[in-house]
Amino acid sequence: MQQLLVRPENMKRIDSPALAQAYIDEQVAAIREQVGDGKVLLALSGGVDSSVVAALLIKAIGDRLVAVHVNHGLLRKGEPEQVIEVFRNQMHANLIYVDATDRFLDKLAGVSDPETKRKIIGKEFIEVFAEEARKLTGIRFLAQGTIWPDILESEAGIKAHHNAGGLPEDLSFELVEPVRILFKDEVRMVGKALGLPDGMVYRQPFPGPGLGVRCVGAITRDRLAAVRESDAILREEFAAAGLQGKVWQYFTVVPDMKSTGIKNGQRTDDWMVIIRAVNSVDATSATIEEVPYALLLRIRDRIFAEVKGVNRVLYDLSCKPIATIEYE
Ligand code: XMP
Repeated sequence: MQQLLVRPENMKRIDSPALAQAYIDEQVAAIREQVGDGKVLLALSGGVDSSVVAALLIKAIGDRLVAVHVNHGLLRKGEPEQVIEVFRNQMHANLIYVDATDRFLDKLAGVSDPETKRKIIGKEFIEVFAEEARKLTGIRFLAQGTIWPDILESEAGIKAHHNAGGLPEDLSFELVEPVRILFKDEVRMVGKALGLPDGMVYRQPFPGPGLGVRCVGAITRDRLAAVRESDAILREEFAAAGLQGKVWQYFTVVPDMKSTGIKNGQRTDDWMVIIRAVNSVDATSATIEEVPYALLLRIRDRIFAEVKGVNRVLYDLSCKPIATIEYE
């Protein structure tokens, strides 16, 4: 059983637990054959693709998978904890957790240009991961959550696909890509069959630079906390209203802008939280979710009561185009 580099033209869409299980069995055999008694390194973000890759590798080679979870300080509330709970505590993975929050936020301090922010986050991520990789010895393989649309997009010249994540040259690995020939819905089907929690398997798209692009302008810790807390409230309330998994993407944004308010008879000068909820098929265009008004008001009340430094809550009505989904 060899790992396939190209999706066979006649491959049936994996749309049932039975087909997912057959794929898992094939891949476990393929991984064992490729890796032998070697060790495999993986950057585990907690996103669907890398989580499914991790679960497949744990099944195939157990603690010979070394998974590194880098917390860049821009993850959503509860995400690093979930990665540790699922992979270390439940699946007994060999997981290295790196809290690099201070490092990232120090580098980002005072930087307001969106592309510069993205570049700093990307470069720092590779540096932190490379430092961890250099501490380990005897690892010949690097697993990646490349999926079939990544290959198609890179062939079509739409998006450069960075093999080995742009690692420095002294770190050269043989790639292990067990979900390379799968479409996203198939990755989710396989993840479900591997026993990953629904919150991980069906999670909404989340950009690599994370909350960094939703803390518009130069990131500060207080505004980042306001984004994280308000996003957690939004997600909780959407889940309670049965909208989780139905609305394509929803999040909050806190721009670098204050406005006047009044609290206990005193003037305030505080941040605003913008709520965004959109539907899309492939993110190239998006429409606005018609969130029930009563739900919006409940979210507003909770944000005012629970999030520090906020005196205004707004709902974004912009579709894509003319707006993009994210703010930066
Ligand atoms: P935009 O803002 O371009 O976003 O309408 C389209 C979709 O892509 C996600 N997105 C990203 N995903 N890295 C990612 O992995 C990124 O830098 C990034 N920027 C945007 C966004 O969340 C939306 O789903």
